[in-house]
Amino acid sequence: MNDMTPINPNKQNPYLKGLYAPVAEEVSAQNLEVVGEIPNSLHGGYFRNGPNPASPPAGMHHWFDGDGMLHGVWFENGNARYRNRFVQTQDLSSGGADGMPGIFERSIDVAGRTVNYRDTANTDVIYHNGKLLALWYISGKPVAVDPHTLETIAIENFGGKLPRNVSAHSKVDAVTGELVFFDYALYEPKMWTGTVSADGALTHFQEIALPGPRLPHDMGMTENYTILHDLPVIFSEAAIRNRLWQIHVADQPTRIAVVPRKGGEPKWFEFPTCYIYHVINSWEEETPNGTEVVMAACKMVPNGFKPDPQYGPFAAMADVLALRAQPFIWRMNMQTGEGREEQIDDALSEFPVVDTLKAGRKTKHSYHVIFDDCIEQRFSGLVKYDLETGKSERHYFPKGVFGSEPVFVANDDGEEGHLITFTSDLAGKSEVHIINTSDMSAEPVAKVKLPQRVPLGFHGTWAPAV
Ligand SMILES: [Fe+2]
Repeated sequence: MNDMTPINPNKQNPYLKGLYAPVAEEVSAQNLEVVGEIPNSLHGGYFRNGPNPASPPAGMHHWFDGDGMLHGVWFENGNARYRNRFVQTQDLSSGGADGMPGIFERSIDVAGRTVNYRDTANTDVIYHNGKLLALWYISGKPVAVDPHTLETIAIENFGGKLPRNVSAHSKVDAVTGELVFFDYALYEPKMWTGTVSADGALTHFQEIALPGPRLPHDMGMTENYTILHDLPVIFSEAAIRNRLWQIHVADQPTRIAVVPRKGGEPKWFEFPTCYIYHVINSWEEETPNGTEVVMAACKMVPNGFKPDPQYGPFAAMADVLALRAQPFIWRMNMQTGEGREEQIDDALSEFPVVDTLKAGRKTKHSYHVIFDDCIEQRFSGLVKYDLETGKSERHYFPKGVFGSEPVFVANDDGEEGHLITFTSDLAGKSEVHIINTSDMSAEPVAKVKLPQRVPLGFHGTWAPAV
């Protein structure tokens, strides 16, 4: 090394290596090799989003900064095909990793009030109005993607009517075809929620006042209500300097707003302070005391702050990314104004999913990932919960094999069905595993061999019959 050799700021970054290392190629493959049998009933696409830097990051890299890449597997008549494509965001098209900065290298405008990050659309993917939408957790421009090819169509602005941005974890109501979304800002004491019709027209948009700026990650949706989170976590310049991206404000309560989906005053419910990344599902229940709006979600378990020095300047990031959460239910009575919180289980799990076609309606089961005994975010198995009894059943991947957030696809005749997930191993091989939910501990009914590694990533969805 001579004096002119730049120091690699990401040398100790675990999220650019091994299971997380980006892939460079955009691949299309047909008639994939299958061990076992793909159920003939499976007809549709499983899609998963995740960070995949298009070029080596120049500065300190946060896992959340990578350019969005979609991986998709389509099933029809027992056959499978695969594709992966970058999400062609405005910021990727205009320079990718060398363009806008990431979390640790943010730029602040001269007024000090606007933080600009590269909008990567790398966080979630949903299926609405015949298109996939790639979404970003800081709230960005949704990117419409062709569900047959994964080619980017355009930045989606709902006929030019979208006033601001759309955050990740927007919800699609499969019964009405509507999309319900939220938007937030790093510095403003407010958030926004809106509804888009089945054919892509913005039908509602509303501002919600908050006691201060907040960093919500998810939302809930029921048949008649949107559920918004005022959680005591905020963006902080000091936290960024300490290589964190957010900071917990312990003296504030957790507040949950129930807002009529068609618009109206939010009804607020206060709960003991906590943070929630991901909502499991939400629904309405009629009780003798009135309508209860019910939100099931994974509640973060306070674990102190124990950064592991082996990760150097990335120790704080790695500690926060080791999600430690337990499933809870929050019940909010719309007549009495009373709220109560119930714990479903004390085991740790996250990245919960339900039957996407039943989102917003009561579901008996949910499916979550369980974590490897390791600070890095990697999933060693899946757990099926009975949300009424808390009873659970587990499926473990083979040793050294790690999964993704799955999708659940119901059988035609009932509650059970199949879980579909990408897997990756330490040798660089990836598969799709299809697991029968009525026999969770059994071997997958099918293992589909993929032509390249799928880096560990974030969220996915199922699109029927595409
Ligand atoms: Fe998320």
